[in-house]
Amino acid sequence: MLKGKKILLGITGGIAAYKSAYIIRLLVKNNCEVKVVVTPAVKDFISHLTLSTLSKNPVYHRFFDPGSGDWDSHVELAEWADLMLIAPLTANTMAKMVTGIADNILLTTYLSAKCPIIIAPAMDLNMYKHPATTENLAKLEARGHHIIPVVEGELASGICGEGRMAEPEDIVLFLHQVIKSKT
Ligand SMILES: Cc1cc2nc3c(=O)[nH]c(=O)nc-3n(C[C@H](O)[C@H](O)[C@H](O)COP(=O)(O)O)c2cc1C
Repeated sequence: MLKGKKILLGITGGIAAYKSAYIIRLLVKNNCEVKVVVTPAVKDFISHLTLSTLSKNPVYHRFFDPGSGDWDSHVELAEWADLMLIAPLTANTMAKMVTGIADNILLTTYLSAKCPIIIAPAMDLNMYKHPATTENLAKLEARGHHIIPVVEGELASGICGEGRMAEPEDIVLFLHQVIKSKT
C-alpha cells in the first residue's frame, strides 16, 4: 500500500525526535520515497546527517543557504508529497500550525501542502492535558488532519502518563490505513 509513495516527514524539536530515524527506516523498507523537513530545534535532538543518510535525501532545514544564496522551495516540496507526516509534533509547532505562523521551512511547507496531513503529537503529560493543546488538536482535526493518538507510558520528565508519541511501527501502520481509506 505504501510502495512508491512520496512521504514528506516533518520532524519537530521534541525528545521523541530520535524515533524519527526508525520511522524513516521503516518507510524506506516499505519502498517509499522519503524527504525530511525539520524545525531549527531538531538539530539539538537528532543530527541532519542521520536523517539524510537514512532517507537518502538532503534534509530541508532552512529557507536558504546564506553562502550561495540558493534556496529550497517549500512550495515544490509540498507539491512533491503524496502525504505529509509530522512526527513528533511539539506543542509549539502545533500552535503555530493552528494560527498559520510561517517562521520556518517546516511551517511554510505545511501551509503549502494540499496532500493529507498526519500528525503524531508528543509531549509531557501536563503540556498534553493543557486546554491550549486540547483546543489546538481539535482545530487540526476539524481541518481534516489525521491524528495519531499519543500513548501512555514513561515520559521524558520521569512522569508516567499520556503524551508519548506512538511507536514507529504503529505510525507506519496508521499511514497504511490512511492511504487505504483514500484508494
Ligand atoms: C529535553 C527536552 C525535551 C523536550 N521535549 C518536548 C516534547 O516532547 N514535546 C514538546 O512539545 N516540547 C518539547 N520540548 C520543548 C521544545 O523543544 C520547544 O518548545 C521548542 O521550541 C520546540 O520547537 P519546534 O516546535 O520549532 O521544533 C523539549 C525540550 C527539551 C529541552
